[in-house]
Amino acid sequence: MGLTAERDNPRLESESYGEGEKALPIVAVQDLSFRWSVRAPYVLGIGELSIQRGERIFIEGPSGSGKTTLLNLLAGVVTPDSGHIVILGTDIASLSGPERDAFRSAHIGLVFQMFNLIPYLSAIENVLLPCRFSHARRAALAEAGTTPQEEAHRLFSHLQLDSEHLLRGSVTRLSAGQQQRVAVARALIGKPELMICDEPTSALDADAARAFLQLISAEAAASGATLVFVSHDRSLAGMFDRTVELPKINHPAGALGS
Ligand SMILES: Nc1ncnc2c1ncn2[C@@H]1O[C@H](COP(=O)(O)OP(=O)(O)OP(=O)(O)O)[C@@H](O)[C@H]1O
Ligand SMILES: [Mg+2]
Repeated sequence: MGLTAERDNPRLESESYGEGEKALPIVAVQDLSFRWSVRAPYVLGIGELSIQRGERIFIEGPSGSGKTTLLNLLAGVVTPDSGHIVILGTDIASLSGPERDAFRSAHIGLVFQMFNLIPYLSAIENVLLPCRFSHARRAALAEAGTTPQEEAHRLFSHLQLDSEHLLRGSVTRLSAGQQQRVAVARALIGKPELMICDEPTSALDADAARAFLQLISAEAAASGATLVFVSHDRSLAGMFDRTVELPKINHPAGALGS
């Protein structure tokens, strides 16, 4: 997953966002249209969405409104039918599939709605995966004077998972709430610039959700990451710098205003 592209294209890891470009938005979406197949209706038609570096942004909308689809596009898991998605100065639609994998490994920490943990690996093996795939993440940890293993243990402790859970057995033996924490640790390890979370609090009760979100937010702030957080739970919106109501910016009917 992305190893070849990373080796062949070091620019994907290092040059996508130069020093002089820090004022540029970390995410710039322009004239985006997307549908899952040519026979399906458009899910997304977004004229413009910009997210600034360091911002903590809350994207909300009802079930089926396209939140997960948008995150998949921002992470380069799927590509738009038309329009631009510029992340850290790179238009990710212009990259090949392996290049997008390498770009994601290096720059984006992704917490999926369904966790997407690797079931035959332990919790700590899941968390260490991005460091195996990305030189940039290993380098960020080396620069901070730590190792992937040490950082995994620190994250687990900060996310209130005790180490007994880390080493033994399949990650699928953990509770849903514990698996969400593992998924968050996997996203955060190696300080990716952009942290994308899809309903990571859905398995938690209201108090636990707020506490967990505070932990994610603090970790993102400590590593300088921009946080894009999706939920249909409006009560969490106050914990963010800005809220985007997806139905207000998304006009999918004929997409791109046609
Ligand atoms: N992999 C897929 N293939 C085909 N259609 C899909 C796929 N994923 C989502 N869709 C469709 O796209 C639309 C938006 O779905 P999406 O998962 O983005 O919504 P959501 O806002 O994340 O909803 P929820 O709050 O329930 O997670 C839905 O009509 C859904 O059926
Ligand atoms: Mg969703």
